[in-house]
Amino acid sequence: MNTTFNPNDLTEVIEADRAHLWHHLMQHKALETTDPRIIVEGCGMRVWDATGKEHLDGVSGGVWTVNVGYGRERIANAVRDQLITMNYFANSAGSIPGSRFASMLIDKMPGMSRVYYTNSGSEANEKAFKMIRQIAHKRYDGKKHKILYRERDYHGSTLATMSAGGQKERNAQYGPFAPGFVEVPHCLEYRAQVETENYGEWAADQIEAVILREGPDTVGALCLEPVTAGGGVITPPAGYWQRVGEICKKYEILLHIDEVVCGVGRTGTWFGYQQFGIQPDFVTMAKGVASGYAAIACMVTTEDVFEMFKDDASDPLNFFRDISTFGGCTAGPAAAIENMHIIEEEGLLANTTAMGGRLVANLNTLAEKHEVIGQVRGLGLFCGAELVSDRSTKEPAPEKMVQAVVADCMAQGVIIGATNRSLPGFNNTLCFSPALISTESDIDEITAAVDAALGRVFGT
Ligand SMILES: Cc1ncc(COP(=O)(O)O)c(C=O)c1O
Repeated sequence: MNTTFNPNDLTEVIEADRAHLWHHLMQHKALETTDPRIIVEGCGMRVWDATGKEHLDGVSGGVWTVNVGYGRERIANAVRDQLITMNYFANSAGSIPGSRFASMLIDKMPGMSRVYYTNSGSEANEKAFKMIRQIAHKRYDGKKHKILYRERDYHGSTLATMSAGGQKERNAQYGPFAPGFVEVPHCLEYRAQVETENYGEWAADQIEAVILREGPDTVGALCLEPVTAGGGVITPPAGYWQRVGEICKKYEILLHIDEVVCGVGRTGTWFGYQQFGIQPDFVTMAKGVASGYAAIACMVTTEDVFEMFKDDASDPLNFFRDISTFGGCTAGPAAAIENMHIIEEEGLLANTTAMGGRLVANLNTLAEKHEVIGQVRGLGLFCGAELVSDRSTKEPAPEKMVQAVVADCMAQGVIIGATNRSLPGFNNTLCFSPALISTESDIDEITAAVDAALGRVFGT
């Protein structure tokens, strides 16, 4: 299938965009002299822009979202049918797709038992934060209320989630932030803070050091991404997660895993944490839950946590006093059900592992040719290539040149990403997250474009 629109018909759209749209994460000065990019159609791994140009999408809708690819009629049909039957009722009542998807999801998450629907990854994380705070009040007189987050991790764009934000450039100029959020060090071994044999355990021990400094009786939860996404695609070093699990148990700290990016297949298992054999208390997810066909996010927790909110029904404050209006929309779970069926029926978890392996191998081959690639990291179809000016000092490549590589790929018709206004001086990692339906030739096309772009930008 291809698109056959007349680009001239879109002049009005482009003008309306320029006149009235405030794009996300964009400095708009450039749009005074260039047209905004408008994506008008998608099919499989490919999208077409307003000029009719075709692109291979190496980042699943820009931000790790369209996991099952574009143009899935069965998702659209399921959403349409559901909307005609019953589009919305506040989630204090149930819905047929809401119940069905919750049960399908819990089937994939042994040890978890309750699904709370919201609209965005940020909001799902806030729900977990609110529960953690309420548990502190109910059980510990408000004392065990601190939430630990990790340097380089990102949990959302709201003020509470930015209070748990480990990316200094994202946070700059938006403070003051909420109290009671405390940073722990990142676990990127490539930029190890010490030389040690078992960096994973060492990095986890730094979390314990923060807990001891703050006082374990003040720390309620630890919130981590399984693989840090926008902070540099950081795969955890061996031994890290096991030790993190032990530390949480030792100090009775609830473990909140932010699966907004890794969730629903991205790493080759349903959830990123399932790669590491750990048992969380809260799991939040959003982007891949319905692959962007409808807005849906979930905050999933255990029966133990759920029980804490219904143990004393005579206390009028003893339940989770929270609502999300659009958490009652039925389009999200209707789309999520089909999304999950597609992943199962098409064997997309296995494909993700296989194609992710190919992507990492291809990038490692490029590293033999291009000195500028300092390290390749990845798990499933979630990969990064950190660019450095000097391999021995690991001096980060300048952000402008990293962006030039992205722009060169775009000119070739291949969309890739890069860490973007996250960390001062360290926005130097190219990001790859093609849909879980990627084929060998898609992967090869992405890395061939990167090869050519690196050659042109760095002269290698
Ligand atoms: C790890 C992580 N958590 C949370 C969020 C926030 O999700 P949303 O933009 O849906 O609020 C993001 C968004 O990129 C993310 O990468």
